[in-house]
Parts: sequence; C-alpha cells; structure tokens
Amino acid sequence: MTSNRRRSLSTALTSALAAPAASEAPAPSAAGASGTPAPPPAPAGPAQVTVDLDQGGDTISRHVYGHFAEHLGRCIYEGFFVGEDSELPNTRGIRDDVVAALRALQVPNLRWPGGCFADEYHWKDGVGPREERPRMVNSHWGDVVEDNSFGTHEFMDLVELLGTEAYVNGNVGSGTVQEMSEWIEYLTRSDDSPMAALRRSNGRDEPWTVPFFGIGNEAWGCGGNMSAEAYADLARQYSTYVRDHAGNEVTRIAAGAHDGDTHWTEVLMRALGDGLGRQADGDPAPFQAVSLHYYTMTGPWTDKGSATEFTEDEWYAALSRASYIDELLARHSTVMDRYDPYRKVGLVLDEWGTWWNVEPGTNPGFLYQQNTLRDALVASIHFDAFHRHAGRLLMANIAQTVNVLQAMILTDPETGALVLTPTYHVFAMNAGHHDAAALPVHVSLPEAAASVDGRELPLLSASASTKDGSALVSLSNLHATESRTVVLDLRGAEVTAHSGQVLAAESTAAHNTPAAPDAVAPRELTTIRPHARGLEVELPAASYATISLDLA
Ligand code: AHR
Repeated sequence: MTSNRRRSLSTALTSALAAPAASEAPAPSAAGASGTPAPPPAPAGPAQVTVDLDQGGDTISRHVYGHFAEHLGRCIYEGFFVGEDSELPNTRGIRDDVVAALRALQVPNLRWPGGCFADEYHWKDGVGPREERPRMVNSHWGDVVEDNSFGTHEFMDLVELLGTEAYVNGNVGSGTVQEMSEWIEYLTRSDDSPMAALRRSNGRDEPWTVPFFGIGNEAWGCGGNMSAEAYADLARQYSTYVRDHAGNEVTRIAAGAHDGDTHWTEVLMRALGDGLGRQADGDPAPFQAVSLHYYTMTGPWTDKGSATEFTEDEWYAALSRASYIDELLARHSTVMDRYDPYRKVGLVLDEWGTWWNVEPGTNPGFLYQQNTLRDALVASIHFDAFHRHAGRLLMANIAQTVNVLQAMILTDPETGALVLTPTYHVFAMNAGHHDAAALPVHVSLPEAAASVDGRELPLLSASASTKDGSALVSLSNLHATESRTVVLDLRGAEVTAHSGQVLAAESTAAHNTPAAPDAVAPRELTTIRPHARGLEVELPAASYATISLDLA
C-alpha cells in the first residue's frame, strides 16, 4: 500500500470509526485468510534444533520486552489509574493488582502518553492541582473528553511503582520546540531552573530519570501527515532541545517508519550525517534511535479479523504475518547498516502486536480486544525475531499493556476483575532472555514449510540465549493440530539440569476470563527426555515452551 493510500485510509478510518492511523497489512494479500490454501504439512518426523551453547553473541536488550500505555480507551483510565477514591485497592490512584502483575514481568520500560495521542498532548495541562487541569478532546480515540487527571507526576509515580524506566513521547505534530524542551527540563533538572522550580511547586523535589524520549509519533500519519524529508528536519530541530540535564542521559527516538517503508528509515539515517550515537565530546547527536511500527492482522484495515472467532487458515495467516517481522527488521537494519556500520543508532519497534476488530458491543475507538493462544504465539514469534536481531534492536514496545490491542491484562468494566492474558504468560516465560547473550540456533524440519498467503511458514520457531551459567531455549509449535517432537542438539557446554514450562490449551482460540482465568496458563513441561545429542521434547499442538538449562 502506498503512503498516500495509507493516509487516505487512515483519514477514512478516523472519521468512520474514530480509529487509528497505523500500519498497513504486510506483504501477504489483504484478503489474508480467504481462499482455500493447502492444509499445512504434518510433522514428518522429529525436528532438529541445534543450539551452540558456548557461542553467546549480541546481548538481547531487556528493553525489547518494553511496554506501551496510551491515553486510549480503558488503558490509562480504569486499566492503570482508578483514582484514590476507587473501591479497588490502589496507591495514589494506581491499581495495586495491575502493578503487582506487571512487576512480576520485570517490565523494563513503559512508553507514554502515545501513540497518536502524544501529538495532541500538551504536558502542562497535566500538572498542578487536578481540579484545575484543563480538559481536552481525545480526538483519535473515541472522541472522548480527557480530564488530564493522569499526567506527568502520575506517570512517573507509576514508573516508580513498577520499578521500570520511563519512555516519554513528546509532541511534534501540534506542540512547540519550547514545550518539548521545557518538558525534559521539568522532568530531569535538579537546580532552581524555571521548570525544576515549577515541578517543586507541584510537589516533587527530586528530578526523575528519563532515559528515553520520543520525538513525535507516526509523523507520516496521525503525527502530522508529513513527508520523511520534512519530518527529518523537524526531528533534528526538536531533539536538539531535548537536553541532557543534571546527568540524565536521554536516548532520543525519532518517529520512524511503518512496515516496509525503508525510504523513511533511510531519510532519517541520512539526516544524522556523521552524528551517530553519542559524540566523543559528549554532545549528543540529534537522535540516537529510530522507530518502526508493525501490527499483525489477518484482513484489511476495514475488517482486521476477530480476536476469538477464527478459522484454522486465519490461525496460520496470523502467524505468517507475525513471522514477517523478521524480514522487516532485516530490511530496516540493512538500510541502517549502510549509514551506521558500527550500530551506534538503535532500532526501536515501539509499537507491535495484534490488531483485531474490537469486541462486539465495545466502543470502536477504544480498541478493546480479547487475547487467545494465537496472540501468545504471535508474541513468541516476535521474540524469536527480536533475539535474532539483538545487534540492532534496542527496544520494542507491545501495544498496549492493559485493555487495548494485544494486552497483558484485561480488566472487567463492571467489576474491575483482572485477567492475565496468554500474551502475559509469554512475557513471563521469556524473562530469562532479558539482557542475555543470543545463541545461534539452527532449526531443521523434515517436512516442507507451510505455504501461507504466498509466503513460507516453517511450523516451528525457536531462539535461545545464555546468561549467568544458564541457557533458555524458546520453542513454538505453530501447527494448529499436530504435536511435535523436537530433538535439541545441545553443543558446546555440558547441561547439568533442565526444566521446562509449556503454554497450551484445549483450542487455538482459548482465552482467559474472570470465570476461567487459567484456561491458558503455563504448566510444567513434563515431556523432556534425555537424548544422545542433548534432550528430546514433545510439544503439544499450538504451544509455546521454554526450557531452562543449567550449564557446567
Ligand atoms: O496503538 C494504537 C495506535 O496505533 C497508536 O496510537 C498509533 O501510534 C498507531 O497508529
């Protein structure tokens, strides 16, 4: 889809559904799961997965397990923030149960306030006494009135409660350079500068740490409908004034491309000239990273597919489209390599995940969707790709953490009851990959890959990493109906102990609800056996497993 078509589609969607301005479907046809593809081949024997345990390579940044929380639907309000007067247990208005669940994931960073919302957000409206804060219209998301009761102080409080790091996204589309400059001063300056004094007058003495700052969002669409060239100039200008105050070192993230738009990435890289990363004299280059957005869906924007009611073909279509992320990361990295062979500039996939039709009866502008075992496998496929691209990928942020798109947590609008989604469990099972060294993994299947929408989809995905004398192997059996035997050929180190977990369910559409919160939950993987070359594992159909190894 061309940029122009994408923009007009986004305009049409915005007016028709109050919906977004995000990415196109990937290479496969928009018809996606329609037609009658050949049935996927059944496993013709054990799969061989070779892992070189002594060949630790690039570090998998823990930040690729990052999150995203936008002022959208019930993510911030109801999801995170219920106010001090809520009956739900809370700390200064922030839900205790949500914080506890997310602390268990060791969330490395949280992006806020958008998304499209970021380019309409004026931060000074969200500080000071709540009752005096001006209101605004959240025109992208449901056309609802935003009362600004959750602002900078509340967000930084949430960051501290979660034990995470802040990724604040500034406003280029409708904000000024001064506004952005003053926000970082307000957040991070320690002396008696005007903004530090304003922060103090609003009750916070100490500056906060803000390691990541976004220079606008989706500037090709909802962030201003700009050309790459026009935005690149603004990115240089705005980021110049996002200063490093009081020892706070900011990684500035330029608003990047969506999907396969490598031209956008190229223009941003060219705009950096020789200024890559952080200069020797300490002066930062205009920006240190460029972003990318990619969403998984099985149909066109007008009918993206149901989260829970899908055919077997749509199962494979979703997984095929998820696996396309590997190619996208490779293509954008190749462009970046040409300008930055020593990888000083990071690639930041700060929006990814499934985007389905909203649940029937819910506000189309709130992007509330269920989350099934299929979403879990979409996540595990992404993580395998992230591990393979560890050398360039600095950060990734799933969209979004609570109640929006591919969420970790869904809360009941009536009772507030919290449910952990299958996607949550994949994040939990993968915590051992944070800041571990990626290991070379070779997958060999006895049968041909499935052919889905004209692309090849091998029905086993894998990755591995090592850290602190142990290794973690991730295995996804993408076959909807067939179990799979995997021989793990473990080379280069002695394995002294092993254990495993598996996420599987009765059906591919299984999901968790307040009535059945553990329909999809990890359990011990009891089908690991010794094998002459290492271990042999039996994976259920449509499952995700992690195997932890202690190394001598
Ligand atoms: O995550 C939802 C929306 O998707 C974001 O606001 C926007 O950046 C993208 O189009």
